[in-house]
Amino acid sequence: MHGFSDSNSLLACHTPEKWIETALRNQDILLIDHANCEKKAAATAMSLMFRYGERHLELQETLSRLAREELGHFEQVMRLMKKRDIRYRPLSAARYADDLRKHLHKHEPERLVDLLVIGAFIEARSCERFRALAPHLDAELADFYVGLAAAESRHFADYLRLARCAGTCELAARIHVFAKVEADLISGADNDFRFHSGVVF
Ligand SMILES: [Fe+2]
Ligand SMILES: [Fe+2]
Repeated sequence: MHGFSDSNSLLACHTPEKWIETALRNQDILLIDHANCEKKAAATAMSLMFRYGERHLELQETLSRLAREELGHFEQVMRLMKKRDIRYRPLSAARYADDLRKHLHKHEPERLVDLLVIGAFIEARSCERFRALAPHLDAELADFYVGLAAAESRHFADYLRLARCAGTCELAARIHVFAKVEADLISGADNDFRFHSGVVF
């Protein structure tokens, strides 16, 4: 274990207050983009299952369960949106995941380790943001987000465990690299407000 007992211990910065203020003023976009994130989390887990199928039985089992949970979250967000009369509409993706992936190693097994480390950061940030938002939200949404934070915290631990099993000695160095890139994306200026955006001025 690399000493990351909680998702916050992996992250190099907290969500800026300014992002929380923007989120509270844009709860429709928050929920629509959140729904997209859950769907993408399932798709990402499944694409890893296909790409690294034959070699990693533990990866198959862990990510299959994770993908099912993410689709369950997607359905929960959609139900809440329906209840609140929030119409689903297309939204561009945040730059976040694509920008993290720009730093991927090109060769295996380092590439797999990087993909799993990125997965851990995305889950850890989701967890941190759900917890940061919850005290400011209405009771229904707050309860929902506190529950999701617990699930994403497990997912963060799952991805880190798989990264350790994928077996290179440079895991700590890669975590260090992605922690810096991730924190810059979260604390820097961004064009559009999204669940994983930086600060929109
Ligand atoms: Fe989720
Ligand atoms: Fe998750």
